[in-house]
Amino acid sequence: TGGFTVAIDGPAASGKGTISRALAAHFGFAYLDTGLLYRAVGAKVLDGMMPEVAARQLEKDDLESDALRSPEVAQEASRVAALPEVRAALTDFQRSFAARAGGAVLDGRDIGTVICPEAQVKLFVTASAEVRAQRRYAELSGKGMAVTLEQVLADVLARDARDSTREEAPLKPAADAVRIDTTELAIADAVAAAVKLIEAAQ
Ligand code: C5P
Repeated sequence: TGGFTVAIDGPAASGKGTISRALAAHFGFAYLDTGLLYRAVGAKVLDGMMPEVAARQLEKDDLESDALRSPEVAQEASRVAALPEVRAALTDFQRSFAARAGGAVLDGRDIGTVICPEAQVKLFVTASAEVRAQRRYAELSGKGMAVTLEQVLADVLARDARDSTREEAPLKPAADAVRIDTTELAIADAVAAAVKLIEAAQ
């Protein structure tokens, strides 16, 4: 039901957020960073709330804090994301977003597999762990966060392992997803390739 949906999944710092934003801007689609939902739940749990309650009570304002980008919140997000009740509480919001009439791009871990299995275009964006850690390190230190490359690499590897091995909605490519490896591909070239795929599917 609803509009044109682009589902973009992949591991942490693969470039999927940058690609998603560029595609949404190019086509005039709405964009939802679904990782932010899990980060916001993780942040509330670090503040002492129960995960399921945090997920059920999530509001727009909760998604706007800069603190959601910290590695501590990312780890907690990945822990709460393994809980079926948390995922269930966030499903309807994501599906309604995907059904917007004007088109939508959603990125995350389970968009093509669980949230929007009917998406018209599915991408699975990857890159080597080293390249992903370097990108995330540049991003976090650029925001003034005190992190080391080693910490960022360890964070990315720990989250990927937890996200890929969990029982509920694990990180994996949908059978019909197109893979884009950005290890040696410039983001602009990845975007250009994705634009062609979307044009062909419209
Ligand atoms: O994408 P981002 O790194 O911000 O996501 C933070 C965490 O949220 C991930 O490590 C993952 O555990 C979880 N997540 C998820 N499903 C999504 C998006 C994010 O489980 N669709």
